[in-house]
Amino acid sequence: MRALCLLLVLMLHLSWGFSHLCLPHQRAALLQFKHSFLTDCRQWYGSNGYPKTDSWNKSIDCCSWDGVECDKLTGHVIRIDLSGGCLAGNFLANNSLLFHLHGLERLNIAYNEFDGAIPSELFTQLVSLTHLNLSFSGFSGQVPYQISRLSRLVSLDLSCYAFPFNYTFDGRGFDMLVTNLTKLRHLVLDHVDMSDVAATSFLNLSWSLEHLSLHNCQLHGEFPSHVFQLPNLKHVDLSRNANLRGDLTKINWSNGLELLDLSFCGFRGSIPPSFGNLTRIVSIGLSRNWLRGQIPDVFGNLSKLTSLRYSSCNLSGPVPDSMFDLVNLSELYLSSNNLVGVIKSDMLSKLESLEILDLSGNSLLSLSTSGNDVNYSFPRLASVSFSSCSIRQFPSFFRTSKLKYLYLSNNMISGGISKWESEGWEELLVLNLSRNFLTSFEQFPGKRLESLDLHSNLLHGPSLSSWLNLSTPNQQFLKEFVISENKLTGNVPGSICSWNELLILDLSRNRLSGTIPECLGNFSQALSFVDLQMNNLSGKIPDSFANASYLMQLFLNDNRLEGSVPPSLANSISLEILNLGNNKLTDRFPDWLASLPSLQILILTSNSFHGPLPHSVASTNFSALRMIDLSGNEFTGPLPTKLFQNLRAMTATGKPKLGLAPLTVFSLAGVRYGSEDYHTSVNVTTKRLELELTKTLDIFVSMDLSNNRFSGQIPEEVGQLVSLQMLNFSHNNFTGPIPASFGNLVALESLDLSSNKLNGMIPSQMSKLTFLEVLNLSGNNLVGPIPHGNQFDTFDNDSYSGNLGLCGLPLSKQCINSREAEPPAPLVVEHEASKIPFFWKLVMMGYGSGVILGLSLGYIVFVTGRPWWLVRMVERDLQYKFTKWIQRIKPKRN
Ligand SMILES: *[C@@H]1O[C@H](CO)[C@@H](O)[C@H](O)[C@H]1NC(C)=O
Ligand SMILES: *[C@@H]1O[C@H](CO)[C@@H](O)[C@H](O)[C@H]1NC(C)=O
Ligand SMILES: *[C@@H]1O[C@H](CO)[C@@H](O)[C@H](O)[C@H]1NC(C)=O
Ligand SMILES: *[C@@H]1O[C@H](CO)[C@@H](O)[C@H](O)[C@H]1NC(C)=O
Ligand SMILES: *[C@@H]1O[C@H](CO)[C@@H](O)[C@H](O)[C@H]1NC(C)=O
Ligand SMILES: *[C@@H]1O[C@H](CO)[C@@H](O)[C@H](O)[C@H]1NC(C)=O
Ligand SMILES: *[C@@H]1O[C@H](CO)[C@@H](O)[C@H](O)[C@H]1NC(C)=O
Ligand SMILES: *[C@@H]1O[C@H](CO)[C@@H](O)[C@H](O)[C@H]1NC(C)=O
Ligand SMILES: *[C@@H]1O[C@H](CO)[C@@H](O)[C@H](O)[C@H]1NC(C)=O
Repeated sequence: MRALCLLLVLMLHLSWGFSHLCLPHQRAALLQFKHSFLTDCRQWYGSNGYPKTDSWNKSIDCCSWDGVECDKLTGHVIRIDLSGGCLAGNFLANNSLLFHLHGLERLNIAYNEFDGAIPSELFTQLVSLTHLNLSFSGFSGQVPYQISRLSRLVSLDLSCYAFPFNYTFDGRGFDMLVTNLTKLRHLVLDHVDMSDVAATSFLNLSWSLEHLSLHNCQLHGEFPSHVFQLPNLKHVDLSRNANLRGDLTKINWSNGLELLDLSFCGFRGSIPPSFGNLTRIVSIGLSRNWLRGQIPDVFGNLSKLTSLRYSSCNLSGPVPDSMFDLVNLSELYLSSNNLVGVIKSDMLSKLESLEILDLSGNSLLSLSTSGNDVNYSFPRLASVSFSSCSIRQFPSFFRTSKLKYLYLSNNMISGGISKWESEGWEELLVLNLSRNFLTSFEQFPGKRLESLDLHSNLLHGPSLSSWLNLSTPNQQFLKEFVISENKLTGNVPGSICSWNELLILDLSRNRLSGTIPECLGNFSQALSFVDLQMNNLSGKIPDSFANASYLMQLFLNDNRLEGSVPPSLANSISLEILNLGNNKLTDRFPDWLASLPSLQILILTSNSFHGPLPHSVASTNFSALRMIDLSGNEFTGPLPTKLFQNLRAMTATGKPKLGLAPLTVFSLAGVRYGSEDYHTSVNVTTKRLELELTKTLDIFVSMDLSNNRFSGQIPEEVGQLVSLQMLNFSHNNFTGPIPASFGNLVALESLDLSSNKLNGMIPSQMSKLTFLEVLNLSGNNLVGPIPHGNQFDTFDNDSYSGNLGLCGLPLSKQCINSREAEPPAPLVVEHEASKIPFFWKLVMMGYGSGVILGLSLGYIVFVTGRPWWLVRMVERDLQYKFTKWIQRIKPKRN
C-alpha cells in the first residue's frame, strides 16, 4: 500500500516535471526583476561571474531558467540563485515584483553589485525563506530589524568586505533575530559591524546551530562559553575580534567540533586537555590570544587534524610528542612562543602531509639532524620557518622537491654550507640564512632561487666572484640578493650583470674593492634598491642609469669613488634616496638632480664637491626633497634664494606627505622580497650627535650645509622651511644677521650656526622655537642681550661662546646697556591654541590655571581666553627659574 502511494506521488512528480509551465505572474515578476538591473561583470566576481539573467527568455519555461527552480507540484518558484550574476543597480527603484514570490524558500544574491540598503521587504514579504544569502551583494547600512520575521530561516549569510564595514547590526535587532530564528543552523556574519551587540546576546542562539562565523565583527565582552556546547555545533569562527574575551579552561567543548578558530581574540587561560576529545576536529586556530602554560600532549585521537595554529600564545614547555603523529596535519604554526627543546628530524618525518611548518621565534627551540636524514621525504612540504630559534646546524634534510621557502635567520648556524648541501632543492624560491655564523657558502642552492638573504654572517674571502664565476644559469631568477654585513673581499664581478630580474641588491658593509661593474644601472630593468655602502670600492660611478626608472634607493656612500655624479641618474624618476657621502667625488653640485620628482633624501657629505649652488632652478624642482646633506665639501658662494622657495616638502606644515615607498614587494608567486628585519637607514648629525635614522627616516626634515665655504647673508627665505627639524650652517663664511624669519621654524630641534661671521643681535623671535633642544651660535660676532623665554632659558654658555658682544643669562656678563638696547624680549608671549608648547599645556592640564594663579603670588599671571592662552611673565628672574622647573617635568619628545 505504502509502496503504491509512493509510486503515485512519483508519477505525479514526473508528469509535472514534463508538462508544467511556469506560472505567468511569476515569469512576469522575474522578468521585471531582470530588467531593473544592469549586468556588469567587470567588477566583483572576476572570471567566476557571468550574467545569469541574460538567458532568461520569455519563450522558455521560467522554471528552467538559469538559477531558478520551481516546486515540482505547485509550480511556484522556490529557489533563486543569482550569486555572481553581475547584477548592478538599486533594488527598490522599480518596486520589485520579486517580493511577490511569497513561496520563495532559498534566495542567493551573493556577489552582485546592488546599491543602497538591504530592502526590508525581503524580510516582510518573503516569509517562507529558509536560506538567505546576501554576502558580498553590495548592499550596505544597518540590517533591517524585520529580519527577525524570517522565523523559518535555517541559513543566513551576510558576510561582506572588511573595510569599510558594509553591514551593521544594532544590539536590539540582533537580540530579536536570535530569539525568533530558532531553526538557524548556519549563521555567517563575517565583517559585519556588531560593535553594538552584547556578547551575552549569543546565549540565546538556536540549539540547532551548526555553523557560526563571526570573523572580524568588532565583538567585545565575555563570550558565553555555553555556545561552544551547542550539541550540533561543528564550525565556530570568532577570529579577529580582539576585544572578545573568554577563559578557555572553563569551556566544555561540543564533541562534534570540526573547526575552531579563535585567532586574534582576547581569550585567556591555557589550552585545555579536553581538546583531546575533539576527535572530529580538522582545524584549530588560537594564534594571538592571551594564553599561558604548556601544550597538553593530547593529539593521539585527533587523526583528522589538518591545521593547527598556536602562534603568539605565550606557550611554554616542549612540543608534545603526540603532535608528531598527526599524519594528516598540513599546517603547523607554533611561532613566537616560549617553547623549548629539540625537534629531531625523525620526529618531523612522520608528518607526511605537512605543507607549512612555522616554529620561528622560540628562542630555546632547536632542531637536530641525524645520519638517516637523507632518507626522509617530505612529499608536500612547501614552507619551513625556523627563524630566531637556536638551531646550530643547517637542516639539509628539508631538501625535498617541493620546498619553496626556508627561513632560518637569527639562529646559531655556524661553519660552512657545502656544495653537497646546496644540491637538490629543486623548487626553492626563498632562502634566508641571515644573522647566523656562517663562514662559507659554496654555491647557490636550487635551480630557481628568487631570494637569497645571507646578511650578518661571517662570510669572508672573495666568495662573491667564485659563486658568480661558476655557471650562472641557476641564478637567472634571482630577484633579491642580500649579503651585507659580512667580510667579503675581492671585487664585484661583472657576471652580476646576468641577473636581469634583480630588484634588490645589497652588498653593503663588506670589504669589497675594485670598481663597480659598468652594467650597474642597466642590467635589470626592475632594479629598485642598490646598496653598496661601506666597502672599499673605487673608480667612477658607472653612467648607466638611462633605463633605471624603477630605482628607488641608491647607496654608494662610504667608499672611495671618484669623478662625478653620473648624469644618467636624471632618468631615475623613482629615485627617493641618493647617498654618495664619504667618497672622493669631485663634481660641481649636480643641479640636474633637481628634476627628480621623488627625490627625498640627497646626501653628498664629505666629498670634494665645489663651486656655487645654482641660481636658476625651475620652480617645480627639488619639490620632494626633505633631507639634504652637503656638509664637508668645498662649496662656495652665497645661498641662492630661489632654491629655498622650491623646497616644497620642507615648507609644508606638519609631516611631509611623502614617506618612503616600502621596499617590500610581492612577486606573482606570492614571494615577499625585502627582508622583514630590513630597514633603510641614513645617518644624520643632529643635536651634536651622529644618529642613525631608521624608523623616523620617513618623516625627518633636515638641511646640513656645514663645513663648506658658503658666504654672504643667510637668506630670509630659509625661514619658510617650517618643517625643518635640523638645520646646520656651521663652519662656513656666512655674514650678516641671523634672519628674524628663523622664528618661524617651529619644528626645529637642533640649530647650529656656529663658526661663521654672523653679526647683529639674536632675533627675539627665536624664543618661539619651543622644540629647540640644541642651539649652537658660538664663534660668531653676535652682540646684545640673549633672548629669554621658552627654550632659551635652557641653553648654557657653550651655545654662545666666542661671541664677545653677547650678554645676559646664562652668560655671566650682565647687560649694562639701557633698556632700549635690549631686544623686544617676549614679556608677553601669545600662542595660538594649536601652537602652545607642550609643557604649557601640561601645566595647565595638570594643575589648572587656578592653582597656577595661586602659585603666582602676583608674579606670574595666566589668563585663559579661547582660543588664546595669554601667558604673562612679569619678573625676568622668576620667569627663568619657572621655565627651568617646567623643563624638568616636561616629558621627552621622541
Ligand atoms: C525600471 O524599470 C524600467 C523597465 O522596467 C527600466 O527601463 C529602468 O531602467 C528601471 N529603473 C531602474 C532605476 O532600475
Ligand atoms: C529567446 O529564445 C528564442 C528561441 O530559443 C530565440 O529565438 C530568441 O532570440 C531568444 N531571445 C533572447 C532575448 O534571447
Ligand atoms: C517572530 O516570528 C513570528 C513568525 O514566526 C512573527 O510573527 C513575529 O513578528 C516575529 N517577531 C519579531 C520580533 O520579529
Ligand atoms: C553564500 O553564497 C556564496 C556564493 O555562492 C557561497 O560561497 C557561500 O558559501 C554561501 N553561504 C552559505 C552560508 O551558504
Ligand atoms: C560596501 O562595500 C563596498 C565595496 O567594498 C564599498 O565600496 C562601500 O563603500 C561599502 N559601503 C559601506 C557603507 O560601507
Ligand atoms: C533570551 O531569551 C529569553 C526569552 O526567550 C529572554 O527572556 C532573555 O532576555 C534572552 N536573553 C538574552 C541575553 O537576550
Ligand atoms: C574525554 O571524554 C571522556 C569521555 O567522554 C571523559 O571521561 C574525559 O574526562 C574527557 N577528557 C577530558 C580531558 O575532558
Ligand atoms: C651610522 O651610525 C652608526 C652609529 O650611530 C654606525 O654604526 C654606522 O656605521 C653609521 N653608518 C655610516 C654609513 O656611517
Ligand atoms: C670669507 O668671506 C670674505 C668676504 O666676506 C672673504 O674675504 C674671505 O676670503 C672668505 N673666506 C673664505 C675662507 O672663503
